[in-house]
Amino acid sequence: MTTPHLLQQGGRVSRALRRVALPTAAVLLTCSACTNSTPSGNSAPPAAASSGAASLRDPLFPGLGNGGYDVSHYVLTLAYQPEANTLKATAVITARATQALSSFNLDLHGLSVRNTTVNERVARTERRGDELVVTPSAPVGRGQEFTTAVSYDGLPATIEGEDGSIEGWMETDDGAVGLGEPTGSTAWFPGNHHPSDKASYDITITVPAELKAISNGTLKRRTEEGGLATYAWKNPEPMPSYAATVAVGVFDISETTTGGLPVYVATDPDEADKAQDMPSLIGEMTAWSVSRFGPYPFASTGAIVDHFPELDYALETQTKPYFQKAPGDGLVLHEIAHQWFGNSVTPRSWKDMWLNEGFATYAEWLWEEEQGGESARETFDAFYSGTHPESKGIWDFPPADPPDAGHVSDPPVYGRGALALHKVREAVGDNTFFSILKTWAERHRHKNADTSQFIKLCEEMSAKDLRGLFDAWLFGEGKPPNAPA
Ligand code: TRP
Ligand code: ZN
Repeated sequence: MTTPHLLQQGGRVSRALRRVALPTAAVLLTCSACTNSTPSGNSAPPAAASSGAASLRDPLFPGLGNGGYDVSHYVLTLAYQPEANTLKATAVITARATQALSSFNLDLHGLSVRNTTVNERVARTERRGDELVVTPSAPVGRGQEFTTAVSYDGLPATIEGEDGSIEGWMETDDGAVGLGEPTGSTAWFPGNHHPSDKASYDITITVPAELKAISNGTLKRRTEEGGLATYAWKNPEPMPSYAATVAVGVFDISETTTGGLPVYVATDPDEADKAQDMPSLIGEMTAWSVSRFGPYPFASTGAIVDHFPELDYALETQTKPYFQKAPGDGLVLHEIAHQWFGNSVTPRSWKDMWLNEGFATYAEWLWEEEQGGESARETFDAFYSGTHPESKGIWDFPPADPPDAGHVSDPPVYGRGALALHKVREAVGDNTFFSILKTWAERHRHKNADTSQFIKLCEEMSAKDLRGLFDAWLFGEGKPPNAPA
């Protein structure tokens, strides 16, 4: 078997994001001042409320996310008008306060906020760049569950990186798509936009009835009224906000099953000829991944195959990866593997991106090996020696330590991350390695995890000291010597 699909991924792995999410210095100052005002001495009331932090201080995206609360559920109700490219929406966010809150922040890029309530009482809001500061009429007590409803509208923004790749809200020839990695979801709904705060989602979209609106999860109902169609999608399992999507346009729908699991594929008619085998491929690859990585983490699998030539990447949007055109087999497998590695087991910070991309890339090698193509060892050798087309640039930095936000989707995170996994496999043997993959997916199912937890698991399950291996392959600068395990 040849590997033409591997060549198609050039666009994806060459993405270079140079954009850093940006709280203004003023916001940071205001906030550290607030967090310092915790009660001290006997005179202060025990639960003096303070502002939630304006960011989670992610090492690569310091402006993203917010502190002081933990979101459990989003109800997004969106109406989209394709001619004007406008959204009119409400977001109802259920969260639990992790501190007594006098105010808290949501991340939101652009759009106009019309009205905000907290527990159904009007709250004051203030925009500071990509932050929405919400001050409830009364403080929220620590540990209390509270509901914030934000009404907003406007032209959702397309966010452009310096390399010209785009995310956020994007118009296509027959509609639009919202894509969120790493920051694009801030362009279409307010929230805690950091992978460490996952939540369940109900996403309802109203569009002109001649179009369809596809999102993550299960379609609960479609209603039609006055020339408009409303699609209600349900996601009871946690989802990182960057894996949320809405695709509006003309789509053919295929609904099948694989091993009892629903397979929902939406295909743009412009790609229908080339994407004919998608439903069976998604079914087959999901079933194969189950055999390798353990139980499928969500209630359905599928894909969105759009026609959007201006986009240069696919994305593992939860339950339905988004493809900007009919994809090659390797890329499909890659995005399916992300349902376990990325969407179910989600990195705690963007630094640990290799836990997504290294795993999804290695899953491609495994699939290839089991299809009777190149063995994973042969692919390893082609990467190590530099003959593989995707191996360019893989030694530029250590995969577990990208230098900045502009490099989270660079070749070391993908290729060298996969090389590290292959070294683990050779060090611990196939049986232990494959049970490590399953245990990793099972232990952190629907949660967050980090690199140190993966290293610990490998050492625990193999009863080996693997520090040297990980130091060399995940953390070391430059090309490590390729000594046998
Ligand atoms: N995660 C996508 C994939 O697997 C690629 C991608 C798109 C990406 N946008 C990104 C990776 C931003 C890191 C950051 O194919
Ligand atoms: Zn990927």
